[in-house]
Amino acid sequence: MMTQNKLTADIDPHRLARAISGYNLIGGELVGARSGNRFAVTNPATGREIGHAAQSDASDVDRAASAAARAQPAWAAMSARKRGTLLADCSRLIAEHVEELGRLVALETGKALRTESRVEASVVADALQFYGGLASELKGETVPFSPDMLTLTQREPIGVVGVIIPWNAPMMLMALKIAPALVAGNTVVVKSAEEAPLAVLRLCQILNQKLPAGVLNIVSGFGPECGAPLVTHPAVGKVTFTGSVETGRIVARTAGEKLIPVTLELGGKSPMIVMDDADIAKAVAGAVSGMRFTRQGQSCTAASRIFVHDKVHDEFVALLKARVDALKMGDPLDEATDIGTVISRTQLDKVLGYIESGRAEPHSRALECSQLPADESLRQGLFVRPVIFTGLGNASRLAREEIFGPVTCVIRFSSYEEAVAQANDSDYGLAATIWTQNLKTALDATRRLQAGFVQVNQNIVVQPGLSYGGVKQSGLGREASLEAMLDHFTHKKTVIFNMN
Ligand code: NAI
Ligand code: MG
Repeated sequence: MMTQNKLTADIDPHRLARAISGYNLIGGELVGARSGNRFAVTNPATGREIGHAAQSDASDVDRAASAAARAQPAWAAMSARKRGTLLADCSRLIAEHVEELGRLVALETGKALRTESRVEASVVADALQFYGGLASELKGETVPFSPDMLTLTQREPIGVVGVIIPWNAPMMLMALKIAPALVAGNTVVVKSAEEAPLAVLRLCQILNQKLPAGVLNIVSGFGPECGAPLVTHPAVGKVTFTGSVETGRIVARTAGEKLIPVTLELGGKSPMIVMDDADIAKAVAGAVSGMRFTRQGQSCTAASRIFVHDKVHDEFVALLKARVDALKMGDPLDEATDIGTVISRTQLDKVLGYIESGRAEPHSRALECSQLPADESLRQGLFVRPVIFTGLGNASRLAREEIFGPVTCVIRFSSYEEAVAQANDSDYGLAATIWTQNLKTALDATRRLQAGFVQVNQNIVVQPGLSYGGVKQSGLGREASLEAMLDHFTHKKTVIFNMN
């Protein structure tokens, strides 16, 4: 057991990884798993071990959920503005640690520091500030039920919230869940992803300098061993999850048995429609950012189906190839690097399997982009060259299943109707974009595209303030907005005073 002193930022991610190895953070203290078990954390750019994480089980989850339950009444009794002020203080503190958090997440996930990891750390500070400012929006209403009665509603916290996160943007996805949960008066137990447990642990350690002990707890471990007991734990009254559809179903099923609410942010197969009147240069830039090539395509909103009008198809593909070719693959910690590695050997094999399957399809063409790094020290690194497929149809496995790698399909169309029909012909419905100069077409598309987030002539990522989430298999509920906090982290209580 180790008690925390005032933390100073450590921008050497190797040293920091070793320093926080092997811990959970429960009740304000860094503690190992009760069993003493740990698992290795590796740098996907070198294959080398950088540290290890506590391999927690149900007993550790119980310890964390109990700490959260004990801390909850006092946290909820604090004025909402005071909680908001603490979150804003947390935001300022994180701003001082952006560099170290960016470096640590780059080291454990392989995401390039300049293009992705440092940006992710800044988004955490932004999300905390945003939700800190929403504290006074936890309002109820008065209801004109009867003249002799005062009837009102009030927002109350749920209690203890279980937060299960993935590895692709672990700090950001965690922040978008814990910030609204905490401001609303809940306490939290986070279960980190086994591939990326260290940066989120460090982030929680920093936040615990401002938050009362037990308000924010985090445990690391494997899904069935540590994630599942968090969902079943009797103290946990709500679960919010981001990850695969398959695991999302398991979580929802268990929550269904317990009759507790769940928010699910699952995958996507987000379409992008490029009309023949589109500004092609802008659309190409939007495809590069939308496909998250700098994150190796490991994004739930990745623009992995790009429908391009016949008339501009070849020009679009040539320009896109040139743009992706210009991205530099290399050491994630190198400032010159645009693209780092995928997260794990499992993901690498999965992505390469899709590429092989796409190549084997008749009429397909795989345009491999950029170059693998030449550096000897990166030879064991999990680098995948980005691939743009042409000649595949929307029925291809590559257009139907979430690849979660740097692979996109450019699909040719000749009529708008055909493009919209194919865009909607998917199990998923997270995000979609349309690129056109024609306002009527744009408006029609925003009405007809089946997705939670539709953009015209741009492809930006989730923003604090804007509701974010999917329809169909992409999930349940919304995140990132005021409504997300009110709808998903509070109960509405109706109160009647009878004055007769
Ligand atoms: P996953 O959905 O299995 O893992 C996400 C989180 O759920 C992790 O913290 C994991 O430990 C936990 N988990 C796993 N089994 C659990 C269980 N039975 N009960 C409770 N928690 C459990 O995703 P994984 O295996 O990392 O990736 C598989 C695929 O999922 C990826 O290839 C990608 O297609 C998709 N994915 C989508 C993400 C998104 O942002 N929507 C994020 C990560 C993965
Ligand atoms: Mg899994």
